[in-house]
Amino acid sequence: MQGKLKWWQKTLVYQVYPKSFLDTTGSGQGDIPGITSRLDYLKTLGVGAIWLTPVYPSPMVDNGYDISDYTAIDPSYGTMEDMEKLIAEAKKRDIRIVMDLVYNHSSDQHAWFQESKRSRDNAKADWYIWRDAKPDGSAPTNWRGIFGGSAWTWCEERQQYYLHTFAKAQPDLNWENPEVRQALYDAANFWLDKGVGGFRIDAIVYIKKPAFVDGEPDGEDGMVGIHEMTHDTPGILDFLHEFKANVFDGHDIFTVGEANGVAPSELKDWVGENGVFSMLFEFSHMNLNFPTSERWYAAEDWPLSKLKGALTASQRATATNGWYPIFFENHDQPRCVDKFFPADADPILAAKAMATVLLTLRGTPFIYEGQELGYTNVAWDTIDDYNDISSHGQYALAREEGCSHEQAMAGVHRFSRDNARTPMQWSRSRNAGFTTGTPWLPVHTDYRECCVEAEACDEASVLSYYRRISRLRREGEIAQVLQAGTYREVLADSESIYAYERSLDGKTVIVLVNFTTNNAPYDAALTEGAKRIDGSYPDSESGLLRPLEAVIYEKED
Ligand code: GLC
Repeated sequence: MQGKLKWWQKTLVYQVYPKSFLDTTGSGQGDIPGITSRLDYLKTLGVGAIWLTPVYPSPMVDNGYDISDYTAIDPSYGTMEDMEKLIAEAKKRDIRIVMDLVYNHSSDQHAWFQESKRSRDNAKADWYIWRDAKPDGSAPTNWRGIFGGSAWTWCEERQQYYLHTFAKAQPDLNWENPEVRQALYDAANFWLDKGVGGFRIDAIVYIKKPAFVDGEPDGEDGMVGIHEMTHDTPGILDFLHEFKANVFDGHDIFTVGEANGVAPSELKDWVGENGVFSMLFEFSHMNLNFPTSERWYAAEDWPLSKLKGALTASQRATATNGWYPIFFENHDQPRCVDKFFPADADPILAAKAMATVLLTLRGTPFIYEGQELGYTNVAWDTIDDYNDISSHGQYALAREEGCSHEQAMAGVHRFSRDNARTPMQWSRSRNAGFTTGTPWLPVHTDYRECCVEAEACDEASVLSYYRRISRLRREGEIAQVLQAGTYREVLADSESIYAYERSLDGKTVIVLVNFTTNNAPYDAALTEGAKRIDGSYPDSESGLLRPLEAVIYEKED
């Protein structure tokens, strides 16, 4: 089994949010040369691939997820030469660069849309999704966009509405048009020619549109979330197989689709032998707070068994077919320390607990910028302090639905995407060493303790723990078990402990993680005769986990 694994199944991926990584010009925003200059740092984490969130030209309404040119670099990030240098320098260190393909929509400033909106009969007239108004002049359907408000915007010039799953500056491309599909494939092939090692494919579940009909309203505004109406529409896989044949096939790359709404039970159609992508980000374990619609102010609590159940279902669904991308953070999510643990949790222990799960499940671990330092959420006073467009949408929705300012802000504090977007904390010096200018988003106030400089020389730090467990996952006999071994959940009924065994060729690794801030006893027979390999406390006691303790044992059959 081990011998058969591909490079991307044996490595770790690190997600860089370029705007917040490292600024080399004093502009207050990170740039590509900043990433190149820190490749050696990423190497110390054992990273073999870097997923870059979009660095293409963009008006930045959604921080780069509104692309105005798919085959160029935004000047704020540098030049194409900088990008080529990053790819080459990374390659020297055995690190591949993975690009983000945002193909459900473009920016409204893209030349394609500028042309499309001009008339109903220009060459690109059919490149986006245009519909007439209802007889009363209102939008064609009652769908609410993911960032709030109607998913349709009126265009004076064309006297028609266009559809946008996200912001109105992000019009949806018309995948039914073969010319559009070809243009998108060409752009992806442009990056393959530049030598990139793979793609993360954004919001891919929305590319196939269903019939344009009203849905049952889910709120006071008479609208229904577009996600409910358009994700994973029948026929989507036909588009995706064509995409694969025209772009991915025949290259030694990996692909990971972002597929909010695809359930573990459907994974077989998306990954593996008959699938499309190498891996799929499904969100069953990330959406526990929102079992129905995503309203931050109305987040629900969940018992640990729900998280364990979701992870186990995904592990099982990819056990013999396909592969799983393990992730607990990304640029759209709050920090995992705040998301998955009780409010009174010690952040360092919580970060190590999550690191243990991230680095020992079966699949490819994705570390998100700052996660390896144990970042926590921020909480700014007013909505105007927030840059993230979805925070503004969620705040407005909460107020519209009767919440006070405080209630609405509590939701923003908990779930804002800006939690994940504050600048990287490199050192104890001004602006955490991120910029000599004014940072585009405030640096977290904890940067003097929580930064690379402070953590690199502290053996008890989150960073040192990540480096250690990453090595365990990559080198030596245990690494083989962690990479290729089977997964079996144990202590499944526990509401305190997440525990599982990974086994290969007569060797078993047992992982136990206490998600609570109380002591958690368990049947000591589970670890009898096993040897402790590592853990988040300096030592461990068989049969008992201390608050938030994570421990890894090994035993021979
Ligand atoms: C994805 C991205 C997110 C972006 C959205 C629209 O969910 O991860 O950041 O806002 O798509 O492109």
